[in-house]
Amino acid sequence: MTTNFDKVVDRKGTGSIKWDKYADKPDVIPMWVADSDFETCPAVLEALHQRVDHGVFGYTEQPTDELADAIVYHLQRCYDWAIEKDWIVLLPSLVSGLNLACMVAGKPGDTVISPATIYPPFKTAPLNAGRELLTIPMKLENQRWVLDLDALEYALDSQDSVRMILFCNPHNPGGTVYNRDEISRLHALCKAHDVLICSDEIHCDLILDQDKRHIPLAMLNQDAAQRTITLMAASKTFNIAGLSCGFAVVANPDLRQALNRAAPGLLPEINLLGQTASAAAFAHGYEWMREQNDYLRANRDYLYQKINALPGLSMTLPEATFLAWIDASALNLDDPALFFEEAGVGLSPGNAFGDQRFVRLNFACRRTLLEKAVKRIANAVREIA
Ligand SMILES: Cc1ncc(COP(=O)(O)O)c(C=O)c1O
Repeated sequence: MTTNFDKVVDRKGTGSIKWDKYADKPDVIPMWVADSDFETCPAVLEALHQRVDHGVFGYTEQPTDELADAIVYHLQRCYDWAIEKDWIVLLPSLVSGLNLACMVAGKPGDTVISPATIYPPFKTAPLNAGRELLTIPMKLENQRWVLDLDALEYALDSQDSVRMILFCNPHNPGGTVYNRDEISRLHALCKAHDVLICSDEIHCDLILDQDKRHIPLAMLNQDAAQRTITLMAASKTFNIAGLSCGFAVVANPDLRQALNRAAPGLLPEINLLGQTASAAAFAHGYEWMREQNDYLRANRDYLYQKINALPGLSMTLPEATFLAWIDASALNLDDPALFFEEAGVGLSPGNAFGDQRFVRLNFACRRTLLEKAVKRIANAVREIA
């Protein structure tokens, strides 16, 4: 390994929402919002330095040739997905993408489906767009959190107002990498009911299980390509979320046009430095990304073993992402996140994702910090269990 992910990077006072949340409680280790504590990869830093040294930051192509080429290269290299450059729609954030997608799903009053346990904007985006929200439960199957496709089938059979499903693969907070059978069944149901799919694949480069592969849903077949809006970004993997650059891949020209016209005048052009960083990440960051995944896998395995050895806590092994979805139900706490915050570990409360018995822990940090947090969690739990 050439990158030192153990390096201490002080993020306090750098405008980081993760760290500044606890500016008044410096003894809390922040492990909540989903950015990593690692420096981005050297190729990204170098590209940013070079671009800054140029000194001119005028209006910028959307996307730059460099970024479009890098996205095409990355998707081909990692997923064998051959896309056309003009399928790319740049976005300032994938949350904007979720909201725009809902705005093109039928008309106000129609229904958009979301998983019941999910990154919160999946449930606000349909409502923001004046659509009805219908949630489908996630279920634990062979120690994996998966969307209940029988429940989805039932919902689609019994409601004819559904126009879109918001799908999350890999899943946040469950860490599931859906396999070909699972996404094929989901697609078949959507095809049978003529439902669009917005597939948020922001975590797809963070595959931790070495025997798993991410399959972009839009790659399944021609029909999937035509009914899917795929959302992606370099932001999670390369820790550049603050540079506000994501994108949608939309093969269907009508859908692409609808997306581009959904919020006229409201979305900003995507800034040059975000494009520069994303282009460098996709063009030159592959080896670094693999090293980071090795480091994250080791953190995950450590955490999994420690958490499951504690009384009252359990977690499944996330196949992807740097997020652990921890079941604290056996502790019978009113507010598990508050309990752990008082013990010195700042986690995301499960109720934000749809299940108050859980907490979400972000393990994208140096190992020593994770060990310190685990010790605090262990001490707190042993005191009450
Ligand atoms: C599934 C998913 N989609 C979107 C986002 C946010 O993306 P952005 O910062 O580009 O809005 C996150 C952040 O955690 C996420 O987990």
